[in-house]
Amino acid sequence: EKGGYEHYMLKEIHEQPDVLARTLEGRLRPDTGDVDLGGEGWEDSDLANVERVQVVACGTALHAGYIARYMIEGLAGVPVDIDFASEFRYRDPRLVKNTMALAISQSGETADTLAALRLARDLGARPTSICNVVGSTVMRESSATLLTEAGPEIGVASTKAFVAQVVAAYLLALRMGRANGRISREQGREMIEELKRLRARMETVLAPEAVEHIRELADRHRNVKGFFFLGRGINFPIALEGALKLKEISYMHAEGYPAGEMKHGPIALIEPDLTTVVVNSIGGVSEKSRSNIEQVKARGGRVIAVGSDRQSHEIAEEAVVVPESSEWLSPVLNVIPLQLLAYHIADLRGCDIDKPRNLAKSVTVE
Ligand code: F6R
Repeated sequence: EKGGYEHYMLKEIHEQPDVLARTLEGRLRPDTGDVDLGGEGWEDSDLANVERVQVVACGTALHAGYIARYMIEGLAGVPVDIDFASEFRYRDPRLVKNTMALAISQSGETADTLAALRLARDLGARPTSICNVVGSTVMRESSATLLTEAGPEIGVASTKAFVAQVVAAYLLALRMGRANGRISREQGREMIEELKRLRARMETVLAPEAVEHIRELADRHRNVKGFFFLGRGINFPIALEGALKLKEISYMHAEGYPAGEMKHGPIALIEPDLTTVVVNSIGGVSEKSRSNIEQVKARGGRVIAVGSDRQSHEIAEEAVVVPESSEWLSPVLNVIPLQLLAYHIADLRGCDIDKPRNLAKSVTVE
């Protein structure tokens, strides 16, 4: 059932192009430059008056939520707040009227996410979700759910569910922007075209030679003291996700930061024995991240550049080339090499990848 792969995690990483296809299936409406999110509660009348979105989630799903924030604000023009579900539920949060609460959860059973969604609902927000399990508690308690079609995720470290959540967030931003008029039919069509081009690009990142290249990188870096992941803009959450994946399955120390925060403390960690991964695709902030690469190098650090920004590859000693795409969808491509890097480092270090120590697949108690 591992389909010839040594671990579920690796199988699930390789399933991601299919997960993309399933999450898009039947939903694209190129004629109107719009999408059909399926289920009820995503009509123009449900979305046109949303004044604020409050995202609540945990772990990897929270990282998808940060990406959702860039998409919903940048594409649909609606302000987004996001919080750790475990913090939101014990604060005294204040919500403005016409808030849409958005829980993001693979399992739909995470205790903190559920409690945060209920609290937001009790404070007057409309509860909605992006979820992977039909009939889960989060789904039952939402007045609208956008189902991800990742299929059952068995590896404890979430991979394909994350990619499905990010794609779902893009679909939601498109639907909201069409409903409130911020996205024109023509822009909607172009966004749909970008989605259609994504599958082939994901396959490039997963090609055997690309995977082999990452295994070689993993081999060269598997004994360093620690890892530092940096990214900006819509790829900042990918830095967080790269660090989380590595911690979870290889037990190596890893930090994920927005690249602009580097100088505010973490730069003190830089030394030859710490590897810095800079996620940088072509877009509005690529020049800024290039200068972070220079700064790490100037302090004797080793850098692996990941993304479509070729100039970053020239500055860094090592690189993972990722095909160019619209900046909005670049996180879907950039996360894959980081999943593979974590996987191969853990494998080379002899870790139990599908059952990492101390972790449960679904955190249904606090
Ligand atoms: C990381 C991971 C966890 C989950 C988190 C939320 O690989 O799997 O961080 O993302 O526990 O779980 P769900 O999405 O089921 O609410």
